Amino acid sequence: MKRLGRFLIASLVLSALAAPAAAQDKPAALISPEQLARIRAGNDECFACHSPAGITHPTKPDLDLKRLRGLLRDADAFYGSDHQRLSCTKCHNEGYDEHPHAADAREMTSTCADCHDKTASAVGKQFDQSVHARNLADTFTCTTCHDPHLMRLAAKLADPHKIVAQDNRVCLGCHDSDETFAKFAPEKKTRPLIDEIHDWLPNARAHWQAVRCVECHTPAVATNEPISHQILDKNKAEKKCVSCHSADSSLKTRLYRHLVSEEHQRLGFANSVILANSYVVGATRHVLIDTLLMIAFGAMLVGLLAHGIGRIVARLRQRKNNER
Ligand code: HEC
Ligand code: HEC
Ligand code: HEC
Ligand code: HEC
Ligand code: HEC
Ligand code: HEC
Ligand code: HEC
Repeated sequence: MKRLGRFLIASLVLSALAAPAAAQDKPAALISPEQLARIRAGNDECFACHSPAGITHPTKPDLDLKRLRGLLRDADAFYGSDHQRLSCTKCHNEGYDEHPHAADAREMTSTCADCHDKTASAVGKQFDQSVHARNLADTFTCTTCHDPHLMRLAAKLADPHKIVAQDNRVCLGCHDSDETFAKFAPEKKTRPLIDEIHDWLPNARAHWQAVRCVECHTPAVATNEPISHQILDKNKAEKKCVSCHSADSSLKTRLYRHLVSEEHQRLGFANSVILANSYVVGATRHVLIDTLLMIAFGAMLVGLLAHGIGRIVARLRQRKNNER
C-alpha cells in the first residue's frame, strides 16, 4: 500500500518538486579558519586515545583499554554536531589535559545551563513538568537525552527522516531496551513493550520511521517555538489519527515546520513538502490517490474480516465435530 502510494506520487510529482534545499550552516561566528584549525588540533590530542585508533595504537603503555573502549567518541559525528566548533576542553574544562585524568575531573564538566543560560531555563521549566522529571527526579537530566557530542538542531538537519531518526533514537534507546530502561525505572517497574502499548496504531514500526514520539507525547506549541520538552502523562497523549492524517496536519507545524516556512517563502505552498518526504494518507490533497489508498485499505479490512469469520466458522464446525 505504502509502495503503491509512493510510486504513484513519485511519478506524479517527480519533475514538479525540487528537492528541499539543504540547510545552510551559520557562518562560523567570530571563529577564523586558523582558530578552528587550532581547536581541532587540540581535539586531536583527545581523539588520539578516545577513538578506535586509540585502542589499536595506544599512545602510552598501561592504559586501561577495557575502560577506554567504552569511552570512544566519533570525530566525524562530533564535527557534524551542534558543538563542532568547540574544544573538548571547553566543556571538559579541568583535569583532562593530562592522563591519568584528575580524580575529580568529572565534577568540573560544564552543564548545558553554564553556556545556554536563557534556553536552558526556558526548556527547564517544560522539562520540570515532564513525566520523567516528576517520576524519576534526580537521575533524569538534560544529558540523559542529549549527547552533546552528537545532537544536531532539527532546523540544521532539515530532512524530516534525519530529524525523526535522531529524535526517536533518544526515546527508543531507552524505551526499547530492557537494560537501559532498568537503569532509570523505579524499582519493580517493568518496561512496557513499545509495540504493545501502541498496538492500536497500524504498523507502529513504520510510524516510528516517519513520525517522532514527541509529536504525540508533547503539547502543541506556536509554530515559531521549538517543540515542548513537557512529555505528558500517557492519558494525555495524542490518539487521533486525523491530527496527522488530514489536510491541515499538525505535522506541518511540527516536524515539517522548517521546510514549510522555506516553502512558504518560495512558493506560498506547503503540501509538497510532506509529499516529498512521506506519503501521509489524508495529509495531502491528491484526492485520487487518497481514494485509491482508501480502497486498498478497505480491501485489506474486508480481507481480514473474511479471514476472521472463516476462522470462527471453522472453529464452530470443529467443536460440533468434537461433540459428536
Ligand atoms: C593518553 C590517552 C588519553 C588522552 C590523551 C585523553 N584521555 Fe581521556 N581517558 C583515557 C582513559 C584510558 C580513560 C579511562 C579512565 C582512566 O583510565 O582514567 C579516560 C577517561 C576519560 C573520561 C571519562 C572520565 C570519567 O571520570 O568517567 C573523559 C570525560 C575523558 N577521558 C575526556 C578526555 C578529554 C576531553 C581529553 C582531551 C583533552 C582526553 N580525555 C585525553 C585516556 C586518555
Ligand atoms: C558541549 C560540551 C561538551 C563538549 C564540547 C565535549 N563534551 Fe564530552 N561530555 C560532555 C558531557 C556533559 C558529558 C557527560 C555526559 C553524561 O553525563 O552522560 C561528556 C562525556 C564525555 C565522555 C564520557 C564520559 C563517560 O563516563 O561516559 C568522554 C570520553 C568525552 N565526553 C570526551 C569528549 C571529547 C573527546 C570531546 C571532544 C571531541 C568532548 N568530549 C567534547 C560535554 C561535552
Ligand atoms: C562550554 C559551553 C557549552 C556547553 C556546556 C553546552 N553548549 Fe551547546 N553550544 C555552545 C556554543 C558555543 C554553541 C554554538 C556553536 C556554533 O554556532 O558553532 C552551542 C550550540 C548548541 C545548540 C545549537 C544552537 C544553535 O542555535 O545553533 C544546541 C541545541 C545546544 N548547543 C545544546 C546544548 C545542550 C543540550 C547542552 C548540554 C548537554 C549544551 N549545549 C552544552 C556552547 C555550549
Ligand atoms: C526526554 C528527552 C529530553 C530531555 C530530558 C531534554 N531534551 Fe532537549 N530535546 C529533546 C529532543 C527530542 C529535542 C529535539 C526537538 C526538535 O527537534 O525540535 C530537543 C531539543 C532541544 C533543544 C533545541 C531546541 C530547538 O531550538 O529546536 C535544546 C536547546 C534543548 N533540547 C535543551 C535541553 C535542555 C537544556 C534540557 C535539560 C533541561 C533538555 N533539553 C532535556 C529531548 C530531550
Ligand atoms: C533513559 C531512559 C529514558 C529515555 C531516554 C526516555 N524515557 Fe520515557 N520513561 C522512562 C522511564 C524509566 C519511565 C517510567 C517512569 C515511571 O513509570 O515512573 C518513562 C515513562 C515515559 C512515559 C509514560 C508516562 C506515563 O504516564 O506513565 C512516556 C509517555 C514516555 N516515557 C515517553 C518518552 C519519550 C517521548 C521520550 C523521548 C523524547 C522518552 N520517554 C525518553 C525512561 C526514559
Ligand atoms: C501516534 C501517536 C503516538 C506516537 C507516534 C507515539 N506514541 Fe506513545 N502513546 C500514545 C498514546 C495515545 C498512548 C496511551 C496509550 C494507551 O494508554 O492506550 C501512548 C503511550 C505511551 C507510553 C506509556 C506506556 C505505559 O503504559 O506505561 C510510553 C512509554 C510511550 N507511549 C512511548 C512512546 C515512544 C518511545 C514513542 C516513539 C517511539 C511513542 N510513544 C510514539 C501515542 C503515541
Ligand atoms: C503523529 C502523526 C500520526 C498519527 C497521529 C497517525 N499517523 Fe499514520 N502515519 C503517519 C505518517 C507520517 C505516515 C507515513 C509513513 C511512511 O512514510 O511510510 C503514516 C502512515 C500510516 C499508514 C500506512 C502505514 C504503512 O504500512 O505504510 C496507515 C495505515 C496509518 N498511518 C494509519 C493511521 C491510523 C489508523 C492512525 C490513528 C490510530 C494513525 N495512522 C495516526 C503519521 C501519523
